[in-house]
Formats: sequence, C-alpha cells, structure tokens
Amino acid sequence: MAKTGQREEPIQALLKEGRKFPPPKEFTKAARVKSPAIYKEAAANPLRFWEKQAKELRWLKPWKKTLEWKLPYAKWFIGGKLNVSDNCLDRHVEGPRRNKAAFIWEGEPGDSRVLTYWDLYREVNRFASALRKHGVKKGDAVTIYMPMIPELPIAMLACARIGAPHSVVFGGFSPESLRDRINDCKSKVVITADGGYRRGGQVALKKNTDEALKGCAFVSSVIVFKRTGQDIDWHRDRDIWWHDFVKDADAYVKPEPFDAEDMLYLLYTSGSTGKPKGIVHTTGGYLTGVSATHRLIFDLREEDVYWCTADIGWVTGHSYIVYGPLANGATGVMYEGTPDFPDKDRFWRIVEKYGVTILYTAPTAIRTFVRWGDEYPKRCNLSSLRLLGTVGEPINPEAWVWYWKVIGGGRCPIVDTWWQTETGQILISPLPGITVCKPGSATFPFPGIEADVVNDKGESVDAGYLVIKRPWPAMLRGIYGDPERYQRQYWSQIKGVYFTGDGAKRDKEGYFWLLGRIDDVMNVSGHRVSTMEVESALVDHPAVAEAAVIGRTHEIKGQAISAFVTIKVGRPQTEELKKEIKEHVAKKIGALARPDDVIYAAELPKTRSGKIMRRLLRDVAEGRALGDTTTLADATVVSDLKQKYEDKEG
Ligand code: WTA
Repeated sequence: MAKTGQREEPIQALLKEGRKFPPPKEFTKAARVKSPAIYKEAAANPLRFWEKQAKELRWLKPWKKTLEWKLPYAKWFIGGKLNVSDNCLDRHVEGPRRNKAAFIWEGEPGDSRVLTYWDLYREVNRFASALRKHGVKKGDAVTIYMPMIPELPIAMLACARIGAPHSVVFGGFSPESLRDRINDCKSKVVITADGGYRRGGQVALKKNTDEALKGCAFVSSVIVFKRTGQDIDWHRDRDIWWHDFVKDADAYVKPEPFDAEDMLYLLYTSGSTGKPKGIVHTTGGYLTGVSATHRLIFDLREEDVYWCTADIGWVTGHSYIVYGPLANGATGVMYEGTPDFPDKDRFWRIVEKYGVTILYTAPTAIRTFVRWGDEYPKRCNLSSLRLLGTVGEPINPEAWVWYWKVIGGGRCPIVDTWWQTETGQILISPLPGITVCKPGSATFPFPGIEADVVNDKGESVDAGYLVIKRPWPAMLRGIYGDPERYQRQYWSQIKGVYFTGDGAKRDKEGYFWLLGRIDDVMNVSGHRVSTMEVESALVDHPAVAEAAVIGRTHEIKGQAISAFVTIKVGRPQTEELKKEIKEHVAKKIGALARPDDVIYAAELPKTRSGKIMRRLLRDVAEGRALGDTTTLADATVVSDLKQKYEDKEG
C-alpha cells in the first residue's frame, strides 16, 4: 500500500464506488486458480514464475538465461529457440486436439465455417510454403490488410512459421493510413481481400490498397483473397489471387527454430504526434505472456467456447484471438461484422448459436448495448456463458453492473483487463476464481507484475501515473526504427520504470482504478479531475447511456467541464433533464465536478477501436470546428468530423 502523507498527487480521485462482487462459489470450486498463494509465489520469485509459464510451450532449444535487463531493453529466454506456429498448430495436431475446432467463424451475411486445428495446420503450411516460394524470407516484413475472415490468422501464422514479421493493418483504416504503415516497414508483399462485409455493405479493401500503393513503388506483390466477389481493378504485374498463389505450394513447411528474441510482428499504434509508432513484439516472451494470461485470467478449460469480439487488426485480436488462444489449444469464435446487423441482437444470437462460454468485449460495446435496451439480449438464451471480460477503456461501474446482471445473469465473474499494445499481454486484471471485484476497478496486477501509482518524482501516491516497475515477458522491445522515441516515450518520464501514460488511483485495499489517459485529465479551479470519473457519474444517471467529458477554456476556473451525452432510447431530451444530470454529478462527486454544459449528442465520436476522441470534442466545445457548439444531435456532423480527424490520427 502507498504511504502518501502530504505528497503532491498529480490527479485527484473523487468518485467513490463501494459495491463488491465476490466470485460466485460455483465458479471458484472449479477454477484453475483457487488460492491467492499464486501472488505470493510470483512476488517472491517473478523469474521462476515466468519460467514455469514458459515451460508450458514447446521449445526447440531450451533457453540459457531467463532475463537480461539493461534499461530500456529487456531480453527474455536468451538462447532459447521455438516456432510460434509450431506451438499454435503442430503441437495440437499431434494429439487429441487434432479435430478440435480452432476457429468457429461466422461471416456477417450469416455464412459460417469451422476450422479444426488440422484444417488450420494444412492451410497455414500451404500459405507458408507459397510465401517462401515467392521469395519471402526470415526478417522480411509482410503487411496484412484483411477483413475478419479465417485467412487473416492463416496469413499471420504462415508468416510466423517462416519468420517473416507481419504488420496487420486494421481493415477500417483509410488508404492514407495504410500507406503510412507500409512505408514505415517497407514491406514488399501486401496481403488483402477484394472486400469484406460490414453493416450490410461491402468494404473496398482492394480498392483502398490500390490507392495506398500509389505511394509505395517498392511493393512488388499483392495477394488478394476473394471474399465478396465485388468488382476490382487488377494490376497483372503485381496482383495475385490467393487461390492461385497456393496452387503449387507444398503441403508442409518445417517450422524453423527461431530465436526467442526474433521479431514476431509489428503493430502500429497512433501516438500523440500523429505519426504512428510501429510497436515491436518478439517471439518467446510474447508467447509466454499471452498464453499464460489467457489461460489463467480466462480460466480456460478444454471444452470452453471462447469469443473475443475485437478485430484482429488491434492488439487484442493479436494476443487474445490468435496467439494466446491457439497456443492454449482453445476453440475461438470469430465474427466478421457489426453487432447491429441484421438486428441489434446479433452478438447474443452468436452466443446462443455456438454456446459461447467466455465472452471478451469492450466497454464501448457494452454501453451501446445498454443504450439499445435489454430486449435484445433477452431474446436469446445466454445460459452457456460462465465468464465475461472487458478491455480497451475504463468501464463505468453502471455498465459493469449491467453486464453482470443482464448478460452474465449474476453468475459470471467479470475480468476487467488493463493492458496496452505496448504491453502485449494483460498486466492488471482479476483472477476470476479468487478476486473480489469492485465495478470499475481492474483490481490487481497479474502475478509476477509489479505496478505502482506515482507522482512526477516517482513517489508512490494514492492517485497519479500508472507505472510498471519490472520487465514482463510480452513487453514491447522497441519502436520500429525509432529507438530515441522509445526511450523518450516510455522510459524517460519517470526514472527507471515503464511509463504507461495512464492515470490511476489505488484505494485503501490496494485495488487499481484506471482513470484514462493522462492527457484526458482536466484542471478545474486548480483541481486535477479525471474525465473518466465524471463520465461514470453521468452514466450513473438513469437517462444517460454514454458520456464524454472534456475541459474547455474558462476565464475563471481555468477549465470548465463540458459533458457530451447520449440519451437512452425513448427519453425526451429536455432542458430540465440537463439540469437534473448536472445535479446528479454534483451529488455523486461534488460541486467541483458539476458540468458547466450538458450537450446532447446522437453519437459520440470514437476512434476505430472504440475510444472516445476527446481531442475532437475539445475543438467542438471551444468552437474551433463547428459554429454551433450547443448540439451534436446530427450524427452526420460527428461522422464528418471524425473522418477529418481519423486520417490525421492514422
Ligand atoms: C486503455 C488495448 C482502463 C488505457 C489492449 C490503455 C484501459 C489503452 C483498459 C491501451 C482497462 C485498456 N481499463 N483502461 N481495462 N484496457 N485501456 O493500445 O488507456 O489499444 O493505455 O490496447 O487503453 O490501448 P491499446
């Protein structure tokens, strides 16, 4: 616990949440982790803890040294050799998992495919062979820009099999964003599809790729999977259909032993400057971190049907749709489209249809479901679910409790998992069989992880910056081509520790509460107030579905609070209600946090991964982007604004 005394805290924690949810007894009885001893053991010897996790993998050559730590660079499992695709496929097809479903896939139009481990193994081998025959070698970056279809993980695993680092670019990104990413890693090969299905329409992936490649003369081949059959342009000297590409390929490619520290992939994430950062992840430590956390946090059992609803284009999909679950031999559901097609019950139909037992989704999705109303989940039988998870943002306590009651039926623990593209693996989360949850808190660091909340001087405080004090196996190994930025961004703000860029508080019982990105902190009359806490108080009002809060310039207070809210379906949006909402916040947190303006919005602007774009709202509130700042009721206004920003953000 932090001894804070009179130490100055960078943020003030205001919101109090007192409810507690112990794990259901039935759950604990059968859980993988039943005793808190795991925390003690790991704290006493973190390296031994990670060695034990690493031994769950198949190593083609054992490691000599577990960790070499020369700040800011860590190396894990030095001298060890392994192949990620061997661990995710060959290992399983040699035993009773051979005919177990690896992926149960559903396309948005309703088509469906099941790929067993043996199916996936065959497909990956062929594609790996084809890549190799095409001249792709160890260390060559390959860009993948695909819809959520099985060929996306097939392409990733094929790259992993031959040691070619992949760079997956989310299919929702614009040609410009794709171009920036291809240019940064200089991949000669791009893998895409003609298109994909989304909200009843078709996304023009090939067209976007053609557009992007106008600026990348070094790209020599584009491999195109036929998903929709839509019309596309064809460049005969450059484009190859996927089905032609694999025609003469061999059925087997020997999984080469790669060094634990060889690069597995690059994944771009937007930084504060607008230039995307290529986050580098390597092989042995990464697979150890993601498989161990997936196994223990999701309490994985052989018979589970696990569904992570993220897109593979984000790190959540890399770690918890592809690498963690496949290394563990799990059955995963994969869905191509949006939650509201053809109706707002699509997710619940999928849960019922495949008997999903573990559901991992994002707070932004949960808040959307709250807004749509309970009738949609109520249409379906959700009794197969036994565990729920969230990731991506702090979850507001009200959304947490709704998830618990309406989706989990009061019987499923919720794991609120905190982590980042950079961390590769979950670092803060409950262990579902033992942790008493508090709605809105990600609870405690995972065994073997040492986190702290500190001020500018690096002293422990109750509310401040979240830092990680010791290296962990799946941590990023750098920013591609930019060691200086790596050092500056993550290892220079506070000496000797990893700087997450997130604000957090820690309560008297040691629970961690994430308060959002540090740039999202407001300064109201000299008090540093977290947007997240005010938003949670807003969502606590029965009429409010979602809220985004920003600080706008104010002559007297420094910053005044503007609250953008979406109202639940069927509630009249009156001036009276605005007053009521303001009072509600004042009552929950204190007069200091009472919003100066409440603005009704039809939709909140979000990034493609579902994070609220506060920077944009700040511009709206300051009158920089729109003349009329009193309303965001027209949804097209939001989408136009978003378009303008997102390409920049790219
Ligand atoms: C936020 C996503 C609170 C946080 C895996 C972090 C969260 C950023 C949580 C990373 C959570 C993620 N509670 N905040 N459970 N999970 N975040 O790189 O601000 O897309 O720094 O990785 O999301 O986002 P990224």
